[in-house]
Amino acid sequence: MDVAQYLATVDIANYESAEHFWAQLHGLSNKDVVVIARSIFEERQSGRVNTQHSAFFFESIDNTQIFHTVVSPYLSVLLEKLNAIPFPPGDILELGCGAGVAACYLAAKFPEKKVVGVDLFPEVVETAENIARLLKLTNVEFRQAQIAELDLNRTFGSVLSVALREEMSSGRQGSFGYFSAIQEMPEALRAPASHLSRAAARHLSPQGMYFSFERCHDIASLAMWVGELHSAGLAPRLELSEMLAFSSVLTGVEKMPFLVSQHSEEVLDARALLGWRSAGSEDAQSQELNIEKRVYENHAWKIVKATEFGIRDELGDAAARVYLLECDREGLVYFTTNRGAREIIFETSFGGAQILLNKFEHLLGELTYNPSVVDVRGITSL
Ligand SMILES: C[S@@+](CC[C@H](N)C(=O)[O-])C[C@H]1O[C@@H](n2cnc3c(N)ncnc32)[C@H](O)[C@@H]1O
Repeated sequence: MDVAQYLATVDIANYESAEHFWAQLHGLSNKDVVVIARSIFEERQSGRVNTQHSAFFFESIDNTQIFHTVVSPYLSVLLEKLNAIPFPPGDILELGCGAGVAACYLAAKFPEKKVVGVDLFPEVVETAENIARLLKLTNVEFRQAQIAELDLNRTFGSVLSVALREEMSSGRQGSFGYFSAIQEMPEALRAPASHLSRAAARHLSPQGMYFSFERCHDIASLAMWVGELHSAGLAPRLELSEMLAFSSVLTGVEKMPFLVSQHSEEVLDARALLGWRSAGSEDAQSQELNIEKRVYENHAWKIVKATEFGIRDELGDAAARVYLLECDREGLVYFTTNRGAREIIFETSFGGAQILLNKFEHLLGELTYNPSVVDVRGITSL
């Protein structure tokens, strides 16, 4: 099935710019929707989240469509990718399916396959069911469940996850590109990111393929994600995988490796991963990637600790990560943001990570104390 046609059927438009989006939004006949959407975005811009306002996105199909057009810059790219790859035999499981746009697309494309979508929140599942009904699909089923504990007692030929890993642990339910459109996830519902690769492996048939589109805005986060896959007994096949970058109307550039993984004991080494990241990417020449390459190229750095923070900058919400890295006797505290900032904050050529541990903890303390006002220049002077 043609992707543009599908998106038009579920009435998910694509906007080229924020101005275009607002112009379209103001043209809608339902002025309530316009007013609420506007106030949610303004709240976000000023760092406040009103969960009641945010819940609006899941109240009806119309509202969900607005949500998707605004915050899912990757939907059409993602569906085009799914359209182009050969799916293995067998049914399909989507973990963290959200409003079910990808699951319903695959159900429509493969009427002979059964598609199961799982998400944590009942209102999200209900939205997905509404879209399936709208499309008159009978081979797709949605379930409300926690991925960390999921055991459907069967395997699938394909497992899919899109923008789920980061959300499981960060507590930003329903957020896209660090734009928390829905609500903060209660602490009790958060799960370590490593549960995702294990849930995928548990449900993947021996010859099955796990297709993942998970955000990794720097090489270290890509290495962590691949490490989690390895520890679940999965290995990405780099020749089938691709680095994708999207530009969102409201959140700027997003980076997502599209990884195709299979059950395997093989372990990719850091050099192979770095080579793939640098070569297979349209942004290969970008300054941020060059800085990362300088850090990683000559050393197989081990991530000793890593923490992610929400920050604000002049463009609004963003995400930053601080890593404590070690290689032999050298150590680094390295800072990255999803807007492309990269900085080595502390380094040592003796004593390894241990010698930087106090400085790293101090930095985390500062960031935890007030993550919303951090800017990269402030951090370097700590
Ligand atoms: C960013 S959204 C992505 C939704 C969808 N895959 C897409 O790209 O349109 C992440 C989804 O994962 C769900 N989620 C987060 N943590 C989860 C968990 N532990 N178990 C199940 N679903 C979870 C959220 O409710 C949310 O719908």
